Amino acid sequence: MRGAERVALVTGGTGGIGRAVALELARGGDRVLFVGRSAERGEQVLVALREERPGVDHAFIRADLSLLADTARVADEVARRTDRLDAAVFCAGILSTVPEWTVEELERNFVLNYLTRYLLSRRLLPALTRAPSGRLVLVSNAGKYGDTLDLDDLQHRRGKPGLRVAGRTQFANDLLATELAARVRGTPVEVTCVFPGMVKTDVFRNSRGLPWIVRALASAVQRWIALSPAAAARTPVFLAQDVQASGTGGQFYGPRRKQLRIPARAQRADRRDALWTASEDLVRPYLAMP
Ligand SMILES: NC(=O)c1ccc[n+]([C@@H]2O[C@H](COP(=O)([O-])OP(=O)(O)OC[C@H]3O[C@@H](n4cnc5c(N)ncnc54)[C@H](OP(=O)(O)O)[C@@H]3O)[C@@H](O)[C@H]2O)c1
Repeated sequence: MRGAERVALVTGGTGGIGRAVALELARGGDRVLFVGRSAERGEQVLVALREERPGVDHAFIRADLSLLADTARVADEVARRTDRLDAAVFCAGILSTVPEWTVEELERNFVLNYLTRYLLSRRLLPALTRAPSGRLVLVSNAGKYGDTLDLDDLQHRRGKPGLRVAGRTQFANDLLATELAARVRGTPVEVTCVFPGMVKTDVFRNSRGLPWIVRALASAVQRWIALSPAAAARTPVFLAQDVQASGTGGQFYGPRRKQLRIPARAQRADRRDALWTASEDLVRPYLAMP
């Protein structure tokens, strides 16, 4: 179905924050396309979306976003389903301290947490530009991580296990947000980056490489003080859907719509340019529509 209705894409829509974002966007009137790997959870979310807004052509796109080929297929599928995209909210991600390499010979965490977002942004920008006020929201850690990105070893072949495996992908989101926001300035598209807070999701259960004691402690802390996914979804949903969020482009946000200071390291033109160029080289075979 194509036309004047609002359409949103959510990655990680099968669980955690992304699921809550998908449901809230549907409640607010959007047709929702969402991505994840689990067919079972995808079907459950689809049922919930249809309950929220019956008669709307919501869709589950099953894909592994740690693979660029699958990510490109998602972009094709979105283009097949809509000309216009009002919002893209990228939530799919993993917390891992161990580097791993996919069949595409790229580092899995780097691709899932960052490069897929770059490729989808590049592929979806034309559809976002066709919406009256297209919104692109990166749910990551907005300004929380230092610059540990080794541009000479993006696939972490020489790097060691440790928090840097995840941290560098989060910092890459910061650079992507500031660079994309600058590139779309003057268009109707707005790009924002969100740290959702500590949220009661499966993020620690799904994590890789953390010692069991850290996982157990983090899960316990999560149970007591973390936000619910629905509460954490409020800021990304506001940025993705609310008319009052126009003019937020280029900003970083925390929970409860709190605007965060953007660290100088995330605004460095040399780092933004270098990451953009390297990313463009990596995704080039996947940029064209079939
Ligand atoms: N929870 C927190 O406290 C917290 C704090 C800071 C930042 N964040 C960020 O918020 C985002 C969402 O986290 P969450 O807490 O909601 O995590 P979560 O509960 O683990 O959910 C992760 C989502 O990503 C999807 N996903 C994971 N690997 C995928 C893959 N290879 N391909 C496609 N989809 C994949 C999962 O679906 P499938 O299993 O169906 O693939 C699921 O829908 C992440 O980027 C995370 O870094 C979370």
